[in-house]
Amino acid sequence: MDNSKKTPSLAEYRQKVEKAKDFLEKKIKEPPEIILVLGTGLSGVAEEIEAEVVIPYEDIPYFPRSTVESHRGRLVLGKLSKHRVAAFQGRFHYYEGYSTKEVTFPIRVMALFGAKILIISNAAGGLNLSYQPGDLMLIADHINLIPENPLRGPNIEEWGPRFPDLSEAYSKRLRALAQEVSGRHPYLREGVYVAVPGPSLETPAETRYLRSIGADAVGMSTTPEVIVAKHAGLEVLGISVIANVNDPDNFQPILLEDVIANAQRAETRLVELVKKVVARLE
Ligand code: HPA
Repeated sequence: MDNSKKTPSLAEYRQKVEKAKDFLEKKIKEPPEIILVLGTGLSGVAEEIEAEVVIPYEDIPYFPRSTVESHRGRLVLGKLSKHRVAAFQGRFHYYEGYSTKEVTFPIRVMALFGAKILIISNAAGGLNLSYQPGDLMLIADHINLIPENPLRGPNIEEWGPRFPDLSEAYSKRLRALAQEVSGRHPYLREGVYVAVPGPSLETPAETRYLRSIGADAVGMSTTPEVIVAKHAGLEVLGISVIANVNDPDNFQPILLEDVIANAQRAETRLVELVKKVVARLE
């Protein structure tokens, strides 16, 4: 039998995660407490880090490569206020052709270092018509429509439980802290994020549907990473930058240039928020 196209076994996946961890262990002085995942147009948050080590993804064994131009593809390790952080500038998406196990590889590796908190950002389309481009939405909950759960298949008990509880996937404590440090600014929203597989954007009918199932913003990332983070016992703060707002009754073309430009415009807000939240953590 030709095994060359066989999907990798969980044992192989585990080995790869452990090898990537061994590689990083030699570069990292002290294990990071906080993981930052920076989405489209948002990688500038990492500029705030007192960087000690910067590692391009291609140097890390078995790390996937970013195939999206708007994503950078490097890991920045260092300090943000008094905390040790690991920031991923550039992430992997299901729409690039990666499995959700590959998409979540970086989270798995960092979880093995004992990180406690994941702060994850994305650029998203607003579905709630009271939102405006440039708003930030604290993710209060998610609906995962990406048709592959990263935990599908045999479970590694040392990594987490078979059926992880997601009753509070997005930490109430961290959301309250984010509200507090932002002075409950009107641009700071709180809502439900729905993840779709992409890469095509939504039709007006799909947009109507996503609104009707209770979503306030739509994007093509984040839920796989959050599922793995919760499996590994991390506390999660998720923030969507609202790059565009999609009104099913007056639907406008969604242009990638606009998405990136709007996300970048809101980046200063995100940087301030993340900095203030991290500074207030114990
Ligand atoms: N839909 C899906 N993903 C997105 C959007 C959108 O409108 N904007 C930014 N990412």
